[in-house]
Amino acid sequence: MSHLAGETRDPVELYSRLAPSYDLLHRRWLKYAGGEAQAALEAAVRVAYRPGAALLDVGCGTGVFARTLLSEGVAAEDLTLLDPSAAMLNRCADLPCPKVPGRLEALPFPSARFEIVTCAWALETSADAALALQELCRVLRPGGALCLAFCADKPARGPVDWMMRQALLRRGTGRFLCVSRVVDLVAAAGAAEIRVIPLAGPVAALVARGASAATRLGCRSDQARPAAA
Ligand SMILES: C[S@@+](CC[C@H](N)C(=O)[O-])C[C@H]1O[C@@H](n2cnc3c(N)ncnc32)[C@H](O)[C@@H]1O
Repeated sequence: MSHLAGETRDPVELYSRLAPSYDLLHRRWLKYAGGEAQAALEAAVRVAYRPGAALLDVGCGTGVFARTLLSEGVAAEDLTLLDPSAAMLNRCADLPCPKVPGRLEALPFPSARFEIVTCAWALETSADAALALQELCRVLRPGGALCLAFCADKPARGPVDWMMRQALLRRGTGRFLCVSRVVDLVAAAGAAEIRVIPLAGPVAALVARGASAATRLGCRSDQARPAAA
């Protein structure tokens, strides 16, 4: 796709193989590139969450983000974890939250199911960012919070950014998304109040509000999908 830099092999297979060592790689990513975006994402969820609010973490990986949320007081029964990789979901086995196998492009939930939908560093693994964003917005309640962090196609600040970018592209575990294109796709999916949090480096954090059902009409596939257990 023209708005994406870099090619990805099958990311689910790659992530499944990386599952045992993922946390080390992720810590390195956060230290040298993604830390600010991750902090912004966590702050956005902290502001949006109220006890009882249903929260979905899409592409949860080993549950790093989920562990932070749970340690900060998010109730386990409010948090649903989704990932297509069984190896990744296995790494979340100790977390007392519902765990659902599934993909960004076909979320196995009815429309408007969640008050908060988060996706940290997984949007860029999708071969169809437009469909993925439509799905993230579809399962979000009107007025709910969409909170994203992703690798962004921005100029490198220096050699460290460049090396982090090359490492990710070489592993084939993601791409670098054009931020304005992501904003356009989120708007096209019907979300409102879209804000990109200003950050340096090859990353972006974005928050938006879920659209009303009326606004979503005209956006793709608003039919309810089978509910996950
Ligand atoms: C870089 S990891 C991010 C994990 C976690 N969110 C974190 O912050 O550590 C990307 C995750 O996205 C998952 N993934 C890959 N393709 C996906 C897709 N099409 N839909 C949803 N998740 C996907 C991978 O299995 C992996 O767990």
